[in-house]
Amino acid sequence: MFGQKNRFARIESARSLAAPEHAPHPSVAVLEAAPPGPRDSNASNDSNDSNDALPTSVELPDSVSRMPPEPALPSSPAAPKAARTETLIRSDGYRLIRSRVLSSMNVSAAVMQTREQAQLEIARIVASIIEAERLKMTMIEQSQIIDEMLNDMFGVGPIEPLLADDTVTDILVNGADQVYVERHGKLELTPLKFRDNAHVINVAQRIAASVGRRVDESSPMVDARLPDGSRVNVVLPPLALKGACIAIRKFAKRDITLARMVANGSLSRQMARTLEIGAACRLNIVISGGTGSGKTTLLNAMSHFIEARERIVTIEDAAELQLQQPHVVSLETRPENAEGAGAVSQRDLVRNALRMRPDRIILGETRGSEAFDVLQAMNTGHDGSMTTIHANTPRDAITRLESMVIMANGNLPLISIRRQIASAVQLIVQTERMRDGVRRVTHITEIVGLEGDVILTQDLFTFRYDDGITHEDVRGRFECSSLRPEFATRASHFGLEDSLLKAIHA
Ligand SMILES: Nc1ncnc2c1ncn2[C@@H]1O[C@H](COP(=O)(O)OP(=O)(O)OP(=O)(O)O)[C@@H](O)[C@H]1O
Ligand SMILES: [Mg+2]
Repeated sequence: MFGQKNRFARIESARSLAAPEHAPHPSVAVLEAAPPGPRDSNASNDSNDSNDALPTSVELPDSVSRMPPEPALPSSPAAPKAARTETLIRSDGYRLIRSRVLSSMNVSAAVMQTREQAQLEIARIVASIIEAERLKMTMIEQSQIIDEMLNDMFGVGPIEPLLADDTVTDILVNGADQVYVERHGKLELTPLKFRDNAHVINVAQRIAASVGRRVDESSPMVDARLPDGSRVNVVLPPLALKGACIAIRKFAKRDITLARMVANGSLSRQMARTLEIGAACRLNIVISGGTGSGKTTLLNAMSHFIEARERIVTIEDAAELQLQQPHVVSLETRPENAEGAGAVSQRDLVRNALRMRPDRIILGETRGSEAFDVLQAMNTGHDGSMTTIHANTPRDAITRLESMVIMANGNLPLISIRRQIASAVQLIVQTERMRDGVRRVTHITEIVGLEGDVILTQDLFTFRYDDGITHEDVRGRFECSSLRPEFATRASHFGLEDSLLKAIHA
């Protein structure tokens, strides 16, 4: 969506552009724009030069190996351009030209044109201002100014180039002065800056308005999914102390399959095969991990192995899952309206999903009282259900599930909660974003039963760190415990026992 032109409500664009240069948001003390710094037109951002092209020689077993090869990412032309405009939008020259352009053109009419038409008009006005004011400006600087103004009118201001940059997975704006991106699993500070805090708020409001949401003093936090599938979160001051914050998790254009993850070093071939069999023979699976550790991506990848004839109901706050099957019903929660009414929670949707004759329920993330209903669903014939949970180890995932069920249903004795968990969940897959930026599956752990009041687990696979690793580097290997999986018997009902044992003992 972002790659297209004129994506945001143009009326909004007109409103925010036509506002005075430093129009303060009612709820914020507007930051003073920094004094114009020296223009650094040579600044370059060299971090986009590598794409994550993968080794092609990795051999994969069975269906993992039958997956078609995936194209490498195109390299991005956008990031160096971003760097060149580092100080541009805070320079005196830019301010002068911008205010003259805005006063000499009809902005409301301009945003109703195409970007190309507006570009011609702005270019003409900019050229005449430069000539009239005898400003010294190169053609490159002129075109940067025109781009900046167009990005403000039709896009998301200074961060527009990052949206087009396929190497960027997350964009994190912390007020006017800091824009971080995540590339290849690592955070980088970019040289991009907003004019001031009001500029960030304008962009945040435009993003929210483009998906029919509002973010302002009365509702200063918004979580939304953009039409292209990217997830965005906005927090305005005074909740955000250093200025408005925007966090965008970009929609992964490239499907990250289990085969790609093997090639990436995210897990071993045996692990991929085990997960593939686990999904195919309808285990109830919890994917556990820290924030941004790759839980949703793994869930997506594993969903490829669900049979096409199954009816799947997915439930999410902001729909991120991209299931390929033909029979998928996707449900999304709804926040309360301005009057504080009309909210539909994940729990409501899980309960409703049970009445929709699902073969499987996939809950994007379990994080509250819906845990109780999900476990019920898993225990009452909706096997093959999957969800993710924020936890640092498989044990923590179990503890979190317990406490979420207690929150939902405080009267249940702990032993019966544990009994439910032990019979509902068969597999916990732990993911971690490690310090080298690689997301790895660190555990594939089975829940094998309950002994007394203790839930018993066995690790089928773990990631073990090598000794003597350096600070940035992560060295280690995926280890198989060679234990016979508890679900081997179940796999035999699907004709997959041999494949499973082969994968384990490979
Ligand atoms: N195995 C992988 N290889 C390469 N990139 C990955 C891998 N797993 C995830 N990513 C990328 O990492 C980012 C975060 O992934 P994802 O959204 O799946 O994490 P998450 O754990 O679900 O995050 P959250 O806690 O915010 O829900 C995405 O941009 C995704 O494309
Ligand atoms: Mg997620």
